[in-house]
Amino acid sequence: MKICVIPGDGIGLEVMAVATAALHVLAPDLTITEAEAGWAVFQRTGTALPETTLALAREATAILFGAVASPSHPVPGYRSPIVELRRTLDLYANIRPTVGNGVDLVVVRENTEDLYIGRERLEDDGATAIAERVITRAASARIVRTACELARTRQTYGHPGKVTIVHKANVLRVSDGLFRTVALEVATDYPELTFEERLVDVAAMQLAAQPQRFDVIVTTNMFGDILSDIACIHGGGLGVAASSNLGHGRALFEPVHGAAPDIAGRGIANPTAALNCVVMLLDWIGRPHAAERLRSAISAVAAAGIRTPDVGGQATTREVADEILNQLSAQM
Ligand code: NAI
Ligand code: MG
Repeated sequence: MKICVIPGDGIGLEVMAVATAALHVLAPDLTITEAEAGWAVFQRTGTALPETTLALAREATAILFGAVASPSHPVPGYRSPIVELRRTLDLYANIRPTVGNGVDLVVVRENTEDLYIGRERLEDDGATAIAERVITRAASARIVRTACELARTRQTYGHPGKVTIVHKANVLRVSDGLFRTVALEVATDYPELTFEERLVDVAAMQLAAQPQRFDVIVTTNMFGDILSDIACIHGGGLGVAASSNLGHGRALFEPVHGAAPDIAGRGIANPTAALNCVVMLLDWIGRPHAAERLRSAISAVAAAGIRTPDVGGQATTREVADEILNQLSAQM
């Protein structure tokens, strides 16, 4: 089985080195290929997602993606490689779980459309900027169905079987109106689940203040991007939050965090989010035993107080990584 690792930029490089080392220990039979994407490769070659990377990603059963640094101003020819990968490989469901402090919820985010299609333009000699928002019946139905199936599976593990449909259809009556209508239609196929609707602003407030009330949240692309960053606070923050992007027999796993230029190169990035991606990957490829080994090594090291500064410790990336790898060898 082939796994393609795309470290990216900034701390993506630092945390993916740790993730790859863990993967080598836990699943030595896998064929791991490494590929480039991001700002550094764009500056060198003029493309942020080289054809060779796309080919390796297509050949792989699973992809581990670190993080890339994307500029916050228009750069001709630059497109975010992660957004491109999600769309090109049709990795339509972004699954972002948060567990901790009495919270156990999952944000299910649509991954292929909404404002993130990147159709933006300037008019009036640059005085007006316009972005197109695309919401389709097909993409809305399949993401809501994914969320319902997940809620149903979780229900068998004792979760409440509740799906919160998040939108802003009171303002975006056409685009979110369609998402909402389709979501409520799909809901009728799942009589065993409970459904509720929330406007995105209230959902954000409740996710911050009363996260325990949520089980599965389903929403459009940009709202899901924002809400999942809020949700991850309850599980220990961006340094630990992992996500999967699921498509047709293929999946891409990535930390929720970005390239963190403020700490890149300082050796203090928390590798836990990347390692939690490896846990998700191992589970997804049907290796629950290896996944459990890594999960327990991560918890043991955190419990021993060997933590990076973002989660209240003083350890370096290397120290956390070495301890986790030691734990893995000790389990043998
Ligand atoms: P960020 O997630 O990179 O960082 C936000 C804050 O969290 C920073 O203070 C950072 O130091 C901290 N942080 C994040 N991950 C951490 C970790 N593993 N350990 C310790 N601290 C951690 O978001 P930011 O700063 O908004 O974006 C930086 C760059 O990353 C931008 O160029 C952005 O476009 C890109 N980005 C890329 C993503 C991706 O590749 N999927 C996702 C989000 C942002
Ligand atoms: Mg984000």
